[in-house]
Amino acid sequence: MAPVRTTGAIVAAISFSMAAFSYFLFFKMNTSTLPFNNKKKRRKGVVDAIGNTPLIRINSLSEATGCEILGKCEFLNPGGSVKDRVAVKIIEEALASGDLVPGGVVTEGSAGSTAISLATVAPAYGCKCHVVIPDDAAIEKAQIIEAVGATVERVRPVSITHKDHFVNIARRRAVEANELAAKKAKASQVDGNGLDRMNGCTIDQEKENSDFLSHCNGGFFADQFENLANFRAHYEGTGPEIWEQTSGCLDAFVAAAGTGGTVAGVSKFLQEKNPNIKCFLIDPPGSGLFNKVTRGVMYTKEEAEGRRLKNPFDTITEGIGINRVTKNFMLANLDGAFRGTDKEAVEMSRFLLRNDGLFLGSSSAMNCVGAFRVAKTLGPGHTIVTILCDSGMRHLSKFYDATYLFKYGLTPTANGLEFMK
Ligand SMILES: Cc1ncc(COP(=O)(O)O)c(C=O)c1O
Repeated sequence: MAPVRTTGAIVAAISFSMAAFSYFLFFKMNTSTLPFNNKKKRRKGVVDAIGNTPLIRINSLSEATGCEILGKCEFLNPGGSVKDRVAVKIIEEALASGDLVPGGVVTEGSAGSTAISLATVAPAYGCKCHVVIPDDAAIEKAQIIEAVGATVERVRPVSITHKDHFVNIARRRAVEANELAAKKAKASQVDGNGLDRMNGCTIDQEKENSDFLSHCNGGFFADQFENLANFRAHYEGTGPEIWEQTSGCLDAFVAAAGTGGTVAGVSKFLQEKNPNIKCFLIDPPGSGLFNKVTRGVMYTKEEAEGRRLKNPFDTITEGIGINRVTKNFMLANLDGAFRGTDKEAVEMSRFLLRNDGLFLGSSSAMNCVGAFRVAKTLGPGHTIVTILCDSGMRHLSKFYDATYLFKYGLTPTANGLEFMK
């Protein structure tokens, strides 16, 4: 019986070792390629599905320049853009500070992406969203915001210094929501039953143009331009992801700025990791940031020529370009800036569509113009990262509309990259 027992023990030992070895192999394979497997992991709800976006090689531009040009696919976020990260950070910080409470309304003045992202994630936090938008923004953006359940006010575009600029109206709506919530609380204390009547009239009558206000638990103005939660979303999220996905092997980062949150958060993080990483701005027509970065003064050619008042059309690229320095932009670490034209952005979008199957929005196309310029400036052999902010789906009525492009002399004609001078 002894040999049988010995054989059994050997078989058991071998089986155990094989099982342990397989388990080790399985575990090792899964952890050694963490970003890849993170993507496959089950995520807890829509908020957990934001971020950890793929970083892809843009083959056509990489081959044309001899550089590795990489694009961070932010269009793959659930709300369709880079702004999902910002929406989550703004709401979470506001809830943590008590400035926003569940059942409250987040208000924002946004030409689109941030509003869509806030509207998308607000319900996950038990909150509502109200958006004030200029009526010259692409119509599909307002349609999406309403479709996902937010309320939308479309207003005439006026100067930021005007009290009825869409950002100022959004700020006011949050104040009104807070006033209304305070009055409601007071009324319920007096009446003891949460009555909706004060001074003989209903709260709804009092704020007749702001129906949403009467159904919420106070308001919070997201303020993406000045709220540094925006910067932190990129400093704590986008930047570290780019660092990990490139294993720290990158030479440059380039992006356009709207609020400046992306370029500031990413540039600050990357340069803290490695001060040799060069960070650049690509600036669209009508924006004063190029001059701010290169000469230290806010100045645009359009303003100098007095064209702005006669023709308010500055750029076809939505969400980027600005004529003031926001608190978010102030935190950017930039080594230089490039200019991009509308024609280059349109042509670049069609080039990437034909050659890479990338259907990108206008700011992403401008970022790729920037990546190409950086590649040409640094020369072959460098790795350059940019942001693919949103997809072309959001830009059908302008950037991808033949009639609109023709009207502004922007009809694409190039076969290759000859439009990049
Ligand atoms: C589509 C799109 N791309 C890019 C940007 C610019 O990013 P940031 O605001 O972080 O500068 C925005 C800003 O609103 C945007 O909406």
